[in-house]
Amino acid sequence: MYQTVIKGVGHFLPDRVVTNRDLESMMDTTNEWIVERTGIQERRWVEEGDGNTTSAMGVKAAKMAIEQAGLSKDDIDYIIFATLSPDYYFPGSGVLVQRDLEIGTAGALDIRNQCSGFVYGLSIADQFIKTGMYKNILLIGSELHSGALDKTTRGRSVSVIFGDGAGAMVLSRSEGKGGVLATSMHSEGAYAEELAIIGPATNRWVDQIIEENNPEDPTYRPYMNGNFVFKNAIVRMTEAIYEVLTKTGKSPENIDLLIPHQANLRISQMVQRQLKLADDQVYNNIMRYGNTTAGSIPIALSEAVQEGKLKEGDLLCLAAFGSGFTWGSALIEW
Ligand SMILES: CC(C)(COP(=O)(O)OP(=O)(O)OC[C@H]1O[C@@H](n2cnc3c(N)ncnc32)[C@H](O)[C@@H]1OP(=O)(O)O)[C@@H](O)C(=O)NCCC(=O)NCCS
Repeated sequence: MYQTVIKGVGHFLPDRVVTNRDLESMMDTTNEWIVERTGIQERRWVEEGDGNTTSAMGVKAAKMAIEQAGLSKDDIDYIIFATLSPDYYFPGSGVLVQRDLEIGTAGALDIRNQCSGFVYGLSIADQFIKTGMYKNILLIGSELHSGALDKTTRGRSVSVIFGDGAGAMVLSRSEGKGGVLATSMHSEGAYAEELAIIGPATNRWVDQIIEENNPEDPTYRPYMNGNFVFKNAIVRMTEAIYEVLTKTGKSPENIDLLIPHQANLRISQMVQRQLKLADDQVYNNIMRYGNTTAGSIPIALSEAVQEGKLKEGDLLCLAAFGSGFTWGSALIEW
């Protein structure tokens, strides 16, 4: 068996900054409400015509990760793309990245695990590398939320939270020690509709949409049972972190850096409290970018690396929770 190491990380955020004050002019909300409940001060939203599709943002993050890895695009032998906001209904965005980066005919897998998508992707990549199937896997988490959000008062409890952006990682084969030590993946489909966009999809095909002719249909917009999601996120992320710590014989005080999925600063703080972690053991950037779903962990990791927060041998923990419900974690020796 081989080990999986993280060779490079990258991220991309669109230039357009949308502050809470900007949102005040679109809907009945206040900067104070948003900061107090979520910790978010601003987020990035793509601008119409700026070319920043989900796959295009993924490509930009991927280029940075491949360069940091000291590899070329031709070294990539598999692509995993995590998103809930793909460019097309089908095909997935992974093949678009493969085409735009001109990565030969490498396989491209799209995964649909929403906020946990990146952690799921990391676990899948780890299995492929450990067994010797692939050498260098490009993993991308990219999200373009702003196009689907209801930016009126009706949609305020959801739309103030989400932002656009992408992150990427190159995972590579190693014959040494360290790297990915353990991962976990879980789901609870009983709560599938508690955080979802129900239509348009096969439960409401195109003909039915045309016949109903109702652009105000709420099922076209994201729905979230906020309180319920909040409580589950804290419990499940904490559980998932303990799971990978237990698998490796470690405990919370061994964690050098925890990067929780950036769902809500209050969720991250509650998880931190449960694990009794100090402030410098946890990295958050939701204040600047909001919740970028599958993009949140790799964007935060890439920024943490740029800020010099990780040194060789550090124990890095990633944990996510989201729609599905799905959740998972990873423990990595940096
Ligand atoms: C969304 C969330 C911030 C809402 O916070 P909350 O404390 O649960 O607030 P509630 O939904 O109970 O709403 C409280 C009040 O604020 C109002 N409100 C909702 N959104 C608002 C906004 N953007 N601005 C001002 N008021 C708002 C509600 O209408 C409600 O008013 P009422 O009491 O008069 O009915 C919170 O539930 C949350 O963060 N959930 C998890 C989100 C998440 O992480 N999602 C991604 C999954 S990974």
